[in-house]
Amino acid sequence: MRTKAAVLWERNSPWSIEDVELDDPRDGEVLVRMVASGLCHSDDHAVTGDLPVALPMVCGHEGAGVVEAVGPGVRRVKPGDHVVFAFIPACGECPSCSTGHQNLCDNGASALSGLKVDGTSRHHAQGQDLYTLVGLGTFSHHTVVHEWSCVPIDPQVPLDRACLVGCGVTTGWGSAVYAAEVGPGDDVAVIGIGGIGAAALMGAKLAGAERIFAIDPVELKRDEAKKLGATHVAASVEEAFGLIQQETWGRMCSKVIACVGVGSGAEVASQMRLVAKRGRLVVTNIHPMAETEVTLSMADLTLMEKSIVGSIFGSANPLFDIPRLLRLYTGGQLDLDAIVTNTYPLEGIGQGFADMKSGTNIRGVLDLG
Ligand SMILES: NC(=O)c1ccc[n+]([C@@H]2O[C@H](COP(=O)([O-])OP(=O)(O)OC[C@H]3O[C@@H](n4cnc5c(N)ncnc54)[C@H](O)[C@@H]3O)[C@@H](O)[C@H]2O)c1
Ligand SMILES: [Zn+2]
Ligand SMILES: [Zn+2]
Repeated sequence: MRTKAAVLWERNSPWSIEDVELDDPRDGEVLVRMVASGLCHSDDHAVTGDLPVALPMVCGHEGAGVVEAVGPGVRRVKPGDHVVFAFIPACGECPSCSTGHQNLCDNGASALSGLKVDGTSRHHAQGQDLYTLVGLGTFSHHTVVHEWSCVPIDPQVPLDRACLVGCGVTTGWGSAVYAAEVGPGDDVAVIGIGGIGAAALMGAKLAGAERIFAIDPVELKRDEAKKLGATHVAASVEEAFGLIQQETWGRMCSKVIACVGVGSGAEVASQMRLVAKRGRLVVTNIHPMAETEVTLSMADLTLMEKSIVGSIFGSANPLFDIPRLLRLYTGGQLDLDAIVTNTYPLEGIGQGFADMKSGTNIRGVLDLG
């Protein structure tokens, strides 16, 4: 069939909206009519090359839609089902999945290649095969994905909100609740209030944090952060250091979650200064893949027993957590509406990413319906 998608042909070039030829779903695959896709900073890493993905590519990995057709052997979903895509597939059977770490599903490695599980492409344009970001390609009116990427959801949940749990909200919320293990009375700092940081604030609040410090250079982000649960705000890590020192009588934050747009090794030492004795820095933001050096006081690590952990997809189990977070949304405990600042048609994708970079959006969402 023919569909329309935003194609990235070269690094640092504009998204090109064009007709894409889409093959039928093969074994284990699903054809989905997309309804909404969030604009996540990770898609921009594909543009800049911080994530050196193969091109040409249909990006987009925070999507929700309706199943139109299924290939042979598909059992998880059927035509008509509403689905959110897990940006890391969850096969349910590999060692990671079967020990409760679906976010580390072994099939994630194949998804990162941008090819389908059988090593081929379903999307084609201008006579060329196209890759899809993590096997998804949600910046499109239709896509074909593996059933492992599909999580069926309650059809009552609006898809332009449900899409957010396909990446950003599960990632941020899980960074606080699972990776940081925020508990009642914890003091928490969240660095960078985009889609990920906003969800981390909400996770920290729901988990019972006492003080929540939101750090972002953009004033609008700091204002929004207060509505989402932050008790204090600061414009920089340096400014936050003095504030946190004062508010916690020098104890600092037991949990610090880094979710700036592009991680920088040079900033890790100053982020670690916000961490309390026996506290934890969760690195959720993506650093350029080529970066291998960080600043860090190892003595501080030893003498204060601090730790640094990474977290992908909020260390969550998408088959369990995606429906759960959507139940929290419908039950009024997770405000997905507050995260969506602006909506765009597919043709407005360039504006959407410009608004992300200028700090106008907590999250921008493509309306593909
Ligand atoms: N680990 C994962 O599974 C995962 C999943 C999704 C996204 N990510 C990554 O998380 C990061 C955040 O993504 P997003 O979509 O929320 O990005 P975003 O661009 O929407 O938000 C980033 C925010 O960080 C702020 N910021 C930039 N530099 C800062 C600094 N030095 N101090 C404080 N704030 C600063 C910006 O003003 C902005 O508000 C990206 O690196 C993204 O690739 C990781
Ligand atoms: Zn993402
Ligand atoms: Zn698996």
